[in-house]
Amino acid sequence: MIRVAINGFGTIGKRVADAVDAQDDMVVAGVTKTGPSFGCDLAARKGFPLYCTNDDPDRIAAFAEGGYNCKGGLSDLLAAADVVVDCAPGKRGAENLSKYKAAGIKHIFQGGEKHDLTGLSYTSCANHEANIGAEGTRVVSCNTTGLSRTLVPLFEKCKSLKVECTMIRRAADPGDSSKGPINAIKPVLKVPSHHGPDLMTVKPEIEINSLAVAVPTTIMHVHAIIADLPSGHGMTTDSILELWRSTPRVLLMSGSGDRITTTAEVMEMARDIGRKWGDLHEVFVWEDGVSLIGDRLYYFQAIHQESDVIPENIDCIRALLSTESDWKTSVSKTDEAISSYYGM
Ligand SMILES: NC(=O)c1ccc[n+]([C@@H]2O[C@H](COP(=O)([O-])OP(=O)(O)OC[C@H]3O[C@@H](n4cnc5c(N)ncnc54)[C@H](OP(=O)(O)O)[C@@H]3O)[C@@H](O)[C@H]2O)c1
Repeated sequence: MIRVAINGFGTIGKRVADAVDAQDDMVVAGVTKTGPSFGCDLAARKGFPLYCTNDDPDRIAAFAEGGYNCKGGLSDLLAAADVVVDCAPGKRGAENLSKYKAAGIKHIFQGGEKHDLTGLSYTSCANHEANIGAEGTRVVSCNTTGLSRTLVPLFEKCKSLKVECTMIRRAADPGDSSKGPINAIKPVLKVPSHHGPDLMTVKPEIEINSLAVAVPTTIMHVHAIIADLPSGHGMTTDSILELWRSTPRVLLMSGSGDRITTTAEVMEMARDIGRKWGDLHEVFVWEDGVSLIGDRLYYFQAIHQESDVIPENIDCIRALLSTESDWKTSVSKTDEAISSYYGM
């Protein structure tokens, strides 16, 4: 059994904990919070051992005052685990990395950290093999994970891809009251944006640039993608749809036939599936919005930002611990376990 510490039990951390709990080859060694809050109730209900994000005795004692059983500080948790999944807010990576190195524990960061922190990044379909046995890595952001799901299989087929995309980003997560905009469309004025090129940290062969805008919604990101295929690619719109239908964690549905024309219906469909929090781990592609004209492919996809990286973290744990060398085998094991966990 791989013992997994989850440092940070917020939007991503609580989902990673559930996904670990669903697997038969790993166990939640513990989760951390900065102090007592309603999120500690969730850890207690699930039976996940609760620790403090640091080793300060006063901070640890504050949990008991709030009515929670805190088993110790971060060092205690790291000593009881084989790997730590860092789910702290972005930009805390450098500080936490030094703690993981001091504890001699394997570590996985999230997309809020830069690639340079570990010099290695991860998505299941792009570079599982390159991460096998590594000491530390970074599961890329929700946007990059979504791009990887559709572009990597296309690249494997065509052997060359030049991509331009516009990321239409949610302003904040549903539980986040501190971000915006709430009545504006906010372009990212650093152009090109970092989002598309981040894909090259896991698949450097794909040439990609992006623009980004934040819009007043909390539920999903949408990508508008234009990809140039090499001449003589031999693909058609139908063969690309067929390729994605046979690709794990890509979900194709029709705007007209299924009457899913906006992210609101995508999220309603996700709630029907029955995963906790209404999550959708798959990247959603509107099949009637896919069109190959000559060598140029146009399509839209939607990303459930809070959850598409969750199954990737599970596969990444197996890569670092060298327990599964084949990414597709890991993906099907992860996804089947999550499905049966939620009785789907
Ligand atoms: N949310 C998304 O849509 C999304 C998608 C993909 C990737 N990511 C990335 O995932 C990471 C986590 O994001 P999130 O949205 O889950 O953040 P979040 O909801 O704000 O949760 C962060 C958690 O980390 C805890 N924490 C605070 N300081 C910490 C520290 N120094 N060390 C360890 N834990 C600490 C917080 O504790 P308290 O609860 O006690 O405050 C909280 O539980 C970021 O890198 C982010 O960029 C986020």
